[in-house]
Amino acid sequence: MLLARDNCSSYSLTNSSAEFLGFGQLVETTPTVLRISRIIVAPSKRGRGLGRALCDLLLAEAAKYADTERIALGVYRDNPVAISLYSSLGFVETPPHPIPEVMSMERRIARG
Ligand SMILES: CC(C)(COP(=O)(O)OP(=O)(O)OC[C@H]1O[C@@H](n2cnc3c(N)ncnc32)[C@H](O)[C@@H]1OP(=O)(O)O)[C@@H](O)C(=O)NCCC(=O)NCCS
Repeated sequence: MLLARDNCSSYSLTNSSAEFLGFGQLVETTPTVLRISRIIVAPSKRGRGLGRALCDLLLAEAAKYADTERIALGVYRDNPVAISLYSSLGFVETPPHPIPEVMSMERRIARG
């Protein structure tokens, strides 16, 4: 079994009691593109704004990578909840993913 990935940072979303709420990764795909990967909110905690909070925190973290211009992700087309979340965060569909069932999405990094 192997979970490790090069150029990848993993983040756990927790509350003040260190209870696990969610998980996500930032993968350095190229010097200018970061990929959000493996986003998940604990099943019992969904629908309360945590997925949005997790993505907001990951996007803020991504903005700290000096050379990054864009942030990308892949999402299965049969996952309307995740697509709705990403669309509301400004991600738009980009040219087709090699796997037809997967939608590639992307947005620019916003730096304050
Ligand atoms: C996708 C996921 C991370 C969303 O997390 P969440 O905490 O439930 O989402 P939030 O409560 O923050 O809601 C964020 C947005 O998601 C969408 N959403 C959430 N629940 C929804 C539902 N039941 N139906 C439709 N859209 C929904 C809405 O756009 C929502 O925004 P809004 O509240 O302003 O309408 C979560 O469902 C999950 O872990 N799913 C399994 C793993 C997965 O699919 N990961 C994505 C891989 S690409």
